Amino acid sequence: MKVVICSKEKMDRLVAKEFIDMVKKKPNAVLGFATGTSPLGVYKNLIEANKKGIVSFKDCTSFNLDEYVGLAGNHPQSYRYFMDHALFDEIDIKKENTYVPSGVGDYHKGMKEYDALIKGVGGIDIQILGIGSDGHIAFNEPGTPFDSYTHETALAPSTIKDNSRLFSSIDEVPTHAVTMGLKSIMEAKKIVLIATGKNKAKAIYGLLKGPITEELPCSILQKHPDVTVYCDEDAYSLVK
Ligand code: F6R
Repeated sequence: MKVVICSKEKMDRLVAKEFIDMVKKKPNAVLGFATGTSPLGVYKNLIEANKKGIVSFKDCTSFNLDEYVGLAGNHPQSYRYFMDHALFDEIDIKKENTYVPSGVGDYHKGMKEYDALIKGVGGIDIQILGIGSDGHIAFNEPGTPFDSYTHETALAPSTIKDNSRLFSSIDEVPTHAVTMGLKSIMEAKKIVLIATGKNKAKAIYGLLKGPITEELPCSILQKHPDVTVYCDEDAYSLVK
């Protein structure tokens, strides 16, 4: 695993460059996106590069990691809504080529087809990940089997608490989500993970130094051949 320690501004630029380089090399690249606070700066850089004509996403396909169960795509806290506003509406990617798992209606059907859909377009070329304070990646909470594909999961109490900052009260945070599994993520050809802040330090220590255990979902990334972990000093502080 490659580790880059730098400021948030710098990692936003470097990770955006990894995506831009991929799309320049392969204009119909399959891009894996995440929601949350961590990737926002990267998305701003991608929007800027697209608007300046440095890169075009018009032939790209994208897959998002996860979605809350019970929130339709027009709900302001849904991950589809987040992605539309944070990225898709601002770049030239075709909306019909952007996939976010559904958490409403017959979502079990869509969930079962999600990995086949990814494989059908040749797999994810580059996947961005954030990390939870409990070491989750996507919504794969501690205890998730390493061989899991896209599935429904219950959110850990710590994740509900962490994510309540984006809702008006903790009672509004959905308790379940549809998430790509750890096996789905491991099948991405290239992975970049972003972590900032002291509340990620324990998870980053486990990711870089700890044993590979289902109790720390991110630890499986140690087995992936092409992962770069971007950390700020705070997130890296327990490793030193
Ligand atoms: C979001 C996702 C989550 C977040 C993680 C960190 O699609 O899959 O795993 O990446 O919860 O969230 P932030 O970046 O808000 O700290």
